[in-house]
Amino acid sequence: MSEMLTISIDGKECTCKKGEYLYDVAKRNGIFIPTFCRSDAFEDHRACCRICIVEVEEGGRTKVVTSCVYPVERECSVQTRSEKIMEERSVVMALLVHRAPEAPSFKNMVGRMGATETDRLVTLDGEKCILCGLCVQACNALGTGAISTVNRGTEKKIDTPYGKGSDACVGCLSCANVCPTGAIEYSETDTTRTIWNRDFELVRCEECGQVMGTQNSVVFAAADEVVPTMCDSCRKKHLADEMMATYRYV
Ligand code: SF4
Ligand code: FES
Repeated sequence: MSEMLTISIDGKECTCKKGEYLYDVAKRNGIFIPTFCRSDAFEDHRACCRICIVEVEEGGRTKVVTSCVYPVERECSVQTRSEKIMEERSVVMALLVHRAPEAPSFKNMVGRMGATETDRLVTLDGEKCILCGLCVQACNALGTGAISTVNRGTEKKIDTPYGKGSDACVGCLSCANVCPTGAIEYSETDTTRTIWNRDFELVRCEECGQVMGTQNSVVFAAADEVVPTMCDSCRKKHLADEMMATYRYV
């Protein structure tokens, strides 16, 4: 059985397993630590944004650590909002804002934690992506693998091969939904979704008319099963109605 430890986070006593990551302990105990690159769907995807830094006092020494990859090995006292952390976090925020000045979700975060003013950083005009890689993870987890990191240095970005519409993409929006900065753009008309330089036909539920996804994503998700023509809630309602009708005549 794993050894249990008791630590203090912002004065709150929290128990955890030895080796558990600090960020996870805080989250489980309802203590907020900001993050951009964490998603519960991808447990091992960590340490890309560094906004989750906290101050740890352990054995009489204090240090700043990246909480999402810092394993708790002994009793310690953690501060998530000390003066030092707020200062350092605002430097990290400044780095992220210079990398992706147009990221919609940053405006709120900068308002809450500030971003250190500096003229020593290059600002990538018009950029929204912080290269956290969550979208690539989502696409790979689905089994499509349509996007990846391309180029180097300031030209580095997430894209399809050669920036062209990819046959592997099914237009499911997993990438856009997991993106913490709203960097992945797409548009929709009544009949068509456009994303990653490709148009996809939209499929609607034959019962209620709700969009169920793109033709490609619905077929992909069905694999070898029958391709559904109704959304989940209409399908459940339909099944319930059928069962009721069956029992009425038994
Ligand atoms: S597009 Fe969004 S999810 Fe993908 S790397 Fe950029 S910020 Fe992360
Ligand atoms: S949440 Fe820890 S580095 Fe991004």
